[in-house]
Amino acid sequence: MTSFDEASTTSGYARYLAAKTTVDDRALNRQVLAELRCLMPAGTPRVLEIGAGLGTMVGRLLDWGVVGAGEYVLLDADRKLLDCSRQWLHDWAAERGVRSDLLPDGLQVGDLRVRLVHAELGGYLEAAHGELADVLIANAVLDLVDVPAILPGLLRLLVPGGVYWFTISYDGESIFAPGHPHDDEVMQAYHRDMDERIRYGRPAGESRTGRHLFHHLQAAGAPALAAGSSDWVVYPALDRKYPADEAYFLLSILNTIRDALQNRQDRVEPAHLADWLAVRRRQLAAGELVYIAHQLDFAGRSPG
Ligand SMILES: C[S@@+](CC[C@H](N)C(=O)[O-])C[C@H]1O[C@@H](n2cnc3c(N)ncnc32)[C@H](O)[C@@H]1O
Repeated sequence: MTSFDEASTTSGYARYLAAKTTVDDRALNRQVLAELRCLMPAGTPRVLEIGAGLGTMVGRLLDWGVVGAGEYVLLDADRKLLDCSRQWLHDWAAERGVRSDLLPDGLQVGDLRVRLVHAELGGYLEAAHGELADVLIANAVLDLVDVPAILPGLLRLLVPGGVYWFTISYDGESIFAPGHPHDDEVMQAYHRDMDERIRYGRPAGESRTGRHLFHHLQAAGAPALAAGSSDWVVYPALDRKYPADEAYFLLSILNTIRDALQNRQDRVEPAHLADWLAVRRRQLAAGELVYIAHQLDFAGRSPG
């Protein structure tokens, strides 16, 4: 669930995004990814990723051989996070024996020039821009923005017929297992919070972004050429341990629900929320908690 974007500190949030990497690796829809590979322009494309966070997608796409050379722009509203991303990618490259050089506005990773752009998306779209992108990526971001308002402007950041890959868009369904009597009350309140959220002075996402994207893309003249589910499925191994740093990922999800709802007794009974959180934390510590979030991926071309 990409709307879970709160953490008390940048380093806590950066750790959450790093912990999310293995969850996203499993979740990303492989048929939509195959379509992206077909659509990917040859040579040295210019890629723009909005809401790029720590930049883990660059590492993944290099690992998966989807990008190799050209330019990759990471745009995010969080400057501290972008600073972390520079070092994270540098370390990521060092671990793989890939040459990387830190530069004033980003870094060079092998043949790929990574550039960091600090901007809030709505303001960025209102300003004039130079070179257009060949490929536009948004991972775990579109459920944090007002899609119908920004989608036409977003697609104009692409060259005509340019490629988009919009992934991990939340779609209104979260499952925590085993079941708890207050599951529905808590999740309905959380979805309402998503639907009414304001960030950067603008409406910021909704709980059914995934399914609504079919229509929004069609209306913007860029219908999906491929679409499919990219559900997060997080569960413990036989030894009751979660893989990689996924226990931290789950804890961050619980904390985000807590932060969104703890002062909203108009939406959820405080005693119910407290009990729900306590039980979920105990299940997490015992390696019993399973979490599933329904999300969707899309690939296609901009109009023209
Ligand atoms: C859930 S995180 C996803 C980060 C990254 N794409 C990933 O999947 O690891 C959402 C990111 O979008 C950024 N973001 C949210 N709203 C934004 C906006 N209006 N403009 C620019 N960035 C935004 C946040 O700062 C955060 O880094």
